[in-house]
Amino acid sequence: MEIPSLNVSGKRAIVSGAGSGIGKGIAVGLAHAGADVVITELPGAYARAEETAQEIRSLGRNALVCPLDVTKQSSIDEMVHLAVTEFGRVDILVNNAGVNVAKFAFDVTEEDWDAVLDINLKGVFFCCQAVGREMVKAGGGAIVNVASQNGLVGYYKRAAYCSSKAGVVNLTRVLAVEWAKHNIRVNAIAPTFVLTPLTAPFFEEEVFYNDVMSRIPLGRLAKVEDMVGAVVYLSSPAAAMVTGHTLVVDGGWTAL
Ligand SMILES: NC(=O)c1ccc[n+]([C@@H]2O[C@H](COP(=O)([O-])OP(=O)(O)OC[C@H]3O[C@@H](n4cnc5c(N)ncnc54)[C@H](O)[C@@H]3O)[C@@H](O)[C@H]2O)c1
Repeated sequence: MEIPSLNVSGKRAIVSGAGSGIGKGIAVGLAHAGADVVITELPGAYARAEETAQEIRSLGRNALVCPLDVTKQSSIDEMVHLAVTEFGRVDILVNNAGVNVAKFAFDVTEEDWDAVLDINLKGVFFCCQAVGREMVKAGGGAIVNVASQNGLVGYYKRAAYCSSKAGVVNLTRVLAVEWAKHNIRVNAIAPTFVLTPLTAPFFEEEVFYNDVMSRIPLGRLAKVEDMVGAVVYLSSPAAAMVTGHTLVVDGGWTAL
């Protein structure tokens, strides 16, 4: 028997928010697995995006840095146009860009709510829609959405965040069902807490750190590298029959 490959050689990927944290790890991981990668970032984070691109080029893969604000349809369209013009097509899309506003529910403002939902849910949908159209033309593709364990369980100070990520989990199912006929697989990963620039300030609070640790049976925070294998797998031929799935990478948090 030939075991299906985790190799994504010759594939062209887009990773949003790839100048930092998990997105950077995923972009470099996909390049290690053989893909050329479009690194997208907010214009203000361009220097960090260029660092990710350099790392990918040093692996002998192509990397293109492209500005993207996922809350703006025009920005998404320009990014997809540039990606297709430069790379010819898009085989893999990883919707990684995301934010959190950590506040108790009674303190959340309309502005907080809109900011989190616009980036984490609306942005994911419209990136899927724009890239999905290109994947239809190309005969298929694989989309991986970076959701969160907080899309599956509740946690303090995350009313908007948990709602957005739960939306991503079910959006993933809807798109998987609708786009299966186009040979587009749509999956998600649900990481536990990962030490990144987004979360580092929260872990300075000892009570929070101890609470999080008490909920992870494997006994540690996740590392960026822990997310890479899951995304490469879901993007690869090894996952050819997997769609609509959210793969938890949570050290056992949701099993407890
Ligand atoms: N770090 C964790 O513990 C954790 C756990 C579960 C899920 N996640 C999810 O993983 C993803 C990455 O998180 P991270 O911890 O690496 O965060 P991060 O802050 O290090 O990276 C997020 C990236 O998204 C980009 N971004 C923000 N707003 C954007 C916008 N409007 N348009 C385009 N890009 C934008 C930022 O510039 C940044 O590069 C997020 O979706 C987050 O919700 C993180």
